[in-house]
Amino acid sequence: MLKMVGVETFYGKIKALHGVSLGVEKGQLVCILGANGAGKTTILKTICGITEPEYGTIHFNDERIDHKDPEEIIKMGISHVPENRRIFPELTVDENLLMGGFLIKDKDLFAERFEKATAHFPVLSKRGSQQAGTLSGGEQQMLAIARALMLEPKLLLLDEPSLGLSPKLVQEIFTIIKDLHQAGVTILLVEQNVNQALKIADYGYVLTSGKIFLSGTYDELYEEEKVREMYLGEGKYVHRARLWRS
Ligand SMILES: Nc1ncnc2c1ncn2[C@@H]1O[C@H](COP(=O)(O)OP(=O)(O)O)[C@@H](O)[C@H]1O
Ligand SMILES: [Mg+2]
Repeated sequence: MLKMVGVETFYGKIKALHGVSLGVEKGQLVCILGANGAGKTTILKTICGITEPEYGTIHFNDERIDHKDPEEIIKMGISHVPENRRIFPELTVDENLLMGGFLIKDKDLFAERFEKATAHFPVLSKRGSQQAGTLSGGEQQMLAIARALMLEPKLLLLDEPSLGLSPKLVQEIFTIIKDLHQAGVTILLVEQNVNQALKIADYGYVLTSGKIFLSGTYDELYEEEKVREMYLGEGKYVHRARLWRS
């Protein structure tokens, strides 16, 4: 469905992505794991046309999309939930969802999408008239995801949805992502929360300094000494591994 080959993206003269190649198949939940500054956000921004790659190609359902405008890319079915959940804080919850559905002209279709998008988030359906800026961090994240779902995307890009949330809400967000995946939504998830992300993903890519240095399924990555060292802390991994498996 999505295929990136040899993508290099620059900020001025600084190269942020060094020949990144990755793929997402229909129905998959794929995650990109990496520390702060690894280039995770840049990958998503490059896919949805906010930044243009200098080299390489990106295909979406066999159509080339690098160098297309962000709006064109949204219309093709790629929705992006950016870092730090940029909702419209002055608008109500419902108005935010309305903005998410800006491309939908048909009233009945809009109502149907609204129902569907909010069905995953019972907490939001009770708060339609609340100003979005007054929601908790976790609720704002849910709103940001619900807003992206209004267009019933073929591919949903999620940029660190768990960042800054309490452990309980992190759990809730990951459960929702898992449910969306099970409901058939294709997802490319960017995360620093390696444990949680790998647990629900079909496939993972590990990114360091703009390069993909490892990729594999949960089991394959779990077997990698380097992943355990980097993300689980030496000596602790046996204990953590038990937690993973439980
Ligand atoms: N707008 C920008 N201008 C210049 N450099 C940037 C910009 N955005 C990101 N970078 C740099 O690109 C690299 C990758 O950043 P980013 O994709 O945001 O990483 P991540 O999302 O993994 O934390 C970092 O070194 C960062 O400082
Ligand atoms: Mg980022």
